[in-house]
Amino acid sequence: MGRLSIHKLKEWKGEGRRFAMLTAYDYPMARLVEQAGVPVILVGDSLGTVVLGYDSTVPVTMEDMLHHTKAVVRGTERCAVVADMPFMSYQANDDEAMANAGRFLQAGANAVKLEGGTEMAPLVRRMVAAGIPVMGHLGLTPQSVNQFGGHKLQGKTPAAAARIISDARALEGAGAFALVLETVPAPLAKMVTERITIPTIGIGAGPDCDGQVQVLHDLLGIYDDQRQFRHAKRYAVLGETIREAVRSYVAEVEDEAFPTAAESFAMDEETLTELNQGASV
Ligand code: KIV
Repeated sequence: MGRLSIHKLKEWKGEGRRFAMLTAYDYPMARLVEQAGVPVILVGDSLGTVVLGYDSTVPVTMEDMLHHTKAVVRGTERCAVVADMPFMSYQANDDEAMANAGRFLQAGANAVKLEGGTEMAPLVRRMVAAGIPVMGHLGLTPQSVNQFGGHKLQGKTPAAAARIISDARALEGAGAFALVLETVPAPLAKMVTERITIPTIGIGAGPDCDGQVQVLHDLLGIYDDQRQFRHAKRYAVLGETIREAVRSYVAEVEDEAFPTAAESFAMDEETLTELNQGASV
């Protein structure tokens, strides 16, 4: 059947069909996410915070992202895989950005995502011309968290909102196939969605975007309260389920309840007798 073409997303927007994108960072989770029917997996640089234990996405490297992108590609057959370009892999130098984006496609990703608006349009145009599909990312762009002074709602003033609308148009004009809108007022996201022909994918951007994206670990409830963002919905509490399973394992080992015969391997009587008689040792 092959992987979903990223061009389908624009078709879906035309049909008014909503879709889910979800992050994944490794082989087993990517398999499960695909099996559950997610059409687009984002190997987000949120890798840095939810998997690698950093405070932000800023320390994430190309090598980190490539390593995890390859695992997600190996774990999936039908999803479109979008790889996030990490901080400073595309901002400093366009030639370097092109080469880095190319590495993601060579690793099996179907597209890359990068943060920024009008200032990124020439680079997006160049990538698209070279055959590299690009997803944009506007609003709260986490790689600029130091510039924003925290995870704050973006596009609150008329000027800031107008800027997001013109950035969205610039990315569309440059050939981006979709764009993420993160932590912006819902009415602004609706306005952007209505004014461009490429799909918008919201996170903390209200219900009117064409698609939604969530961070897998938030959705699964891997972490306790400190990671509970307003925009994230917990569909499970797997952190506690995992702790409980591990607690049971520890207790059974300590109580000699594990392993039992069912998890052990027998030896045939003849070999055992020979060993006991010291014949071969
Ligand atoms: O890195 C990421 O997971 C993202 C999503 C929050 C859109 O960029």
